[in-house]
Amino acid sequence: MNDYLGKLRKVTDLADLANLVETCRSCDLREGCQQVVFGEGNPKAKLVICGEGPGADEDRLGRPFVGRAGQLLDQILAACGFERSQHVFILNIVKCRPPGNRTPLPEEIQACLPNLRMQTHLLQPRIMILLGNSAAQTILRTDLGISQLRGKWVQKGSIWFMPTYHPAALFHRPQLKQLVWNDFQEVVAKYRTLIDPEHKAPYC
Ligand code: URA
Repeated sequence: MNDYLGKLRKVTDLADLANLVETCRSCDLREGCQQVVFGEGNPKAKLVICGEGPGADEDRLGRPFVGRAGQLLDQILAACGFERSQHVFILNIVKCRPPGNRTPLPEEIQACLPNLRMQTHLLQPRIMILLGNSAAQTILRTDLGISQLRGKWVQKGSIWFMPTYHPAALFHRPQLKQLVWNDFQEVVAKYRTLIDPEHKAPYC
């Protein structure tokens, strides 16, 4: 086992994992980006949101989903009564920005997977929202596209996964907004069942 994976196995909390991931050189993405975007939110949140990888804004600020797609995600979350620092933890499949915002390569995704697995192990989510193809296909281990996967719950162990379109897709295809909204309403209903029956949401 290489040195990095050996250290990863010994991590016991999220802050230690974040420090370790700073040192990760398991693929070439770290060479070409400004900083690692580990993820953020409430480490105790039982709702985790997974995107694809940092874009230019995220790379500059070191935080996930802070650009245009992130602002849209925040609006959707607010309509569901979810607040970034309280109800959710937001992370990505790869922690370093792919050059020019390209989709991460399969080998980059594979290289980062131990980080994601440990993050998930430490967070122990009950619900995970998978935004877009990279997140859904990687985590659900399928070649099916997001149009086929979206809106259907997948349960694996104690985690319920809801795949939906990536918010960035809604800029080019606004007709998808209703579908994404339906999927998030499903998440609110599941959140009330599994996590907090008293959860208040302004629009659902
Ligand atoms: N898109 C993603 O998939 N993740 C981010 O953090 C930002 C944009």
